[in-house]
Amino acid sequence: MNNVIKLPEASSIASHVDALYSLIYYFSWVSFIIVMILMVYFVVRYHRSRTNPDKTAYITGHHLTEISVSLGLLAIVMVFFIWGWLDYKTMITADRNALEISVTAKQWLWEFEYTNGRKTMNEITIPANTPVRFVMTAADVLHSFYVPAFRMKQDVVPNTYTSYNVTATAPGEYDLFCAEFCGTAHSKMLGKIKVVSPEEYKKFQSRWEAEQRLGISSDSSSSTTTASTTSATPAERGAKNFADKGCIACHSVTGQKLVGPALNGLLGTDVELADGSKVKIDENYIRESITNSTAKVVAGYAPIMPLFQGTLSDDEVNSLVAYIKGLK
Ligand code: CUA
Repeated sequence: MNNVIKLPEASSIASHVDALYSLIYYFSWVSFIIVMILMVYFVVRYHRSRTNPDKTAYITGHHLTEISVSLGLLAIVMVFFIWGWLDYKTMITADRNALEISVTAKQWLWEFEYTNGRKTMNEITIPANTPVRFVMTAADVLHSFYVPAFRMKQDVVPNTYTSYNVTATAPGEYDLFCAEFCGTAHSKMLGKIKVVSPEEYKKFQSRWEAEQRLGISSDSSSSTTTASTTSATPAERGAKNFADKGCIACHSVTGQKLVGPALNGLLGTDVELADGSKVKIDENYIRESITNSTAKVVAGYAPIMPLFQGTLSDDEVNSLVAYIKGLK
């Protein structure tokens, strides 16, 4: 087989995943061969023609062998586990300085939005050698964000956020697949991830931002399918919704206590709840506090906020989360 196409290793952890995979793969081959050889050896060595055919040998056991085999196997499994855990920790740990991109998966396309408000569909450009954090949610059913060249896959779930943290290492164009069966056109839910140098990325964004200021329709020259472009960033839309939907009546953004808690400087901090427990404030907490506000009430406040589940659209909730988490 000469024409095996090797999948590119395009993220900082891709080579680690491949190395772990190879270790397990070759280890399995070696174990298989050892087991087969021993099996044949024992069949010959302990054949009934070589022993007393009328009497089964009495086996007393051998503590040293048993303990060393058990500990040896445990050690091997722990190597796999610790190696896997360390890489998994890298994957799930969010870099707070990462470039954030929001992703909405829906039947059957990928919608992306940069923090400057630029939206694209099924195609996203990211800079190489820069931590990128995709904050993802689904509009309808379960999907899964899968980029084989990055060796990473993450479920995208309705009504919550999951994140996909990646540092791309090699410029190029990579396939994005949906890896969770999500209906008729699941197999056509394809996207492209373009990795460019950080300088090119800067140009890519500043050109668009300049065009926006001049009011030129964006991306007409490129092949990017652009979703409805709004001039406002998600956080700006959130600020508007914050006023329009009446949040502002009960929540200050300047640290002042009103009917509800102040909302500035929350992200990453711990908050004490009415039941005495503590939670860390992340995107999911903010989202839940909007859609299902009485689920986790902050200590010292009455559970009187209306539930906005179904009242606000997904885009409105996302914009409010973007706004609130950015408040300093
Ligand atoms: Cu979306 Cu499968």
